[in-house]
Amino acid sequence: MNVLTPLLTPEGRALLDEVRDTDPAHELAVATRLRREHPAELVSAALGQARLRQRAVAKFGSEDARRMFFTPDGAEQSTRASVATYRAECLQATGVRSVADLCCGIGGDAIAFARAGIRVLAVDRDPLTCEAARANADALGLAELIEVREADVTEVDTAGYDAVFVDPARRSSKRGRIFDPEAYSPPLSWAVSAALGAPLGLLKIAPGIPHEAIPPEATAEWVSDGGDVKEAVLWFGRDVTPGARRAMLLPAGAGIYVTSETMLPDPGVRPVGRYLYEPDGAVIRAHLVAEVAEEVGGGLIDPTIAYVTADEAHRTPYATAYEITDRLPFNVKKLKALLRERRVGVLTVKKRGSAVEPEELRRKVLPKPHGPESVTVFLTRVAGAPTMLLGHPVR
Ligand SMILES: C[S@@+](CC[C@H](N)C(=O)[O-])C[C@H]1O[C@@H](n2cnc3c(N)ncnc32)[C@H](O)[C@@H]1O
Repeated sequence: MNVLTPLLTPEGRALLDEVRDTDPAHELAVATRLRREHPAELVSAALGQARLRQRAVAKFGSEDARRMFFTPDGAEQSTRASVATYRAECLQATGVRSVADLCCGIGGDAIAFARAGIRVLAVDRDPLTCEAARANADALGLAELIEVREADVTEVDTAGYDAVFVDPARRSSKRGRIFDPEAYSPPLSWAVSAALGAPLGLLKIAPGIPHEAIPPEATAEWVSDGGDVKEAVLWFGRDVTPGARRAMLLPAGAGIYVTSETMLPDPGVRPVGRYLYEPDGAVIRAHLVAEVAEEVGGGLIDPTIAYVTADEAHRTPYATAYEITDRLPFNVKKLKALLRERRVGVLTVKKRGSAVEPEELRRKVLPKPHGPESVTVFLTRVAGAPTMLLGHPVR
């Protein structure tokens, strides 16, 4: 018997409720007490599940996380609800009513598809993961829309589904992150052909994929949430524009979309102006910095660095704007003196094109607060020279 099945019994569910808010620091005492009334394996399974649920709150929100069932790998590899919901709503808006979710894991994407009213065939080859996916569909009242099938995705017939979504395993519990796309499970080449063969095919890939490796038939999309790049997805199908690129920023839902015809050339380099714009990671990964530079009327500080500079402050969802107060060659002593002189207590270190370790620099230049002021320092290159730009976010 696996560790999930006993938790799905009335005794297991009651125990899960009881240990829900257990503080990890008190786990041992709680376990000792509960073992007097319940089998030891059930108690440790419940406490383990409670821990996974607590960790999953960041991805799924507390309402869902406390009702869902996780495996450690399944929790780690699942798509966060914000991103899965955005994708499911896109599919729904394009008329998709059924999807084959190949490599469904514990059901992060399947749940969002079903909540968008899409019927899901959710396939995973791992029995325990399938059990969690089934329990999640039940727990969230979505069992009528989600059929979980334990199978190898390479053997599943997806004909008849409006869309196919493939999310290959890019980590293994033994080897950690897998870098060779042909070592993904299933291999990337199989996943591309499965997505290409569907009326609408979506394939989740590593956000760092080199653009040269993107199949020419695909529109590639990078999604960030709260400023962090979460994933990249290749879209294939009849209504998809080959070679297009999109950056989607959540939770704002702000997106830049370009085709190979509308894509701008690389932005020009110009002298550092009063403002510095730090583009969102999804914009940078999608190679859409030129679009942001155009929007703010700016240029790059260096041909190799994705910082945009301009003379005016523009409100844009695609970049964070900073007002620059100082520009000086990289010099630790000078920075230290400047922070003391300005009575700085909080230093934010950002870097692009610099090998300096932010934490190490912070320890050296601001061992203790000098006062109430906050400063952001950008360690970067300007026209090839290691440079420090000091400033603060534009409110
Ligand atoms: C990245 S996870 C999927 C996460 C999922 N989209 C979610 O949001 O919860 C990848 C899953 O693929 C499954 N998998 C890997 N190779 C497979 C194969 N050949 N057939 C079926 N499932 C496979 C793994 O068991 C793992 O659960």
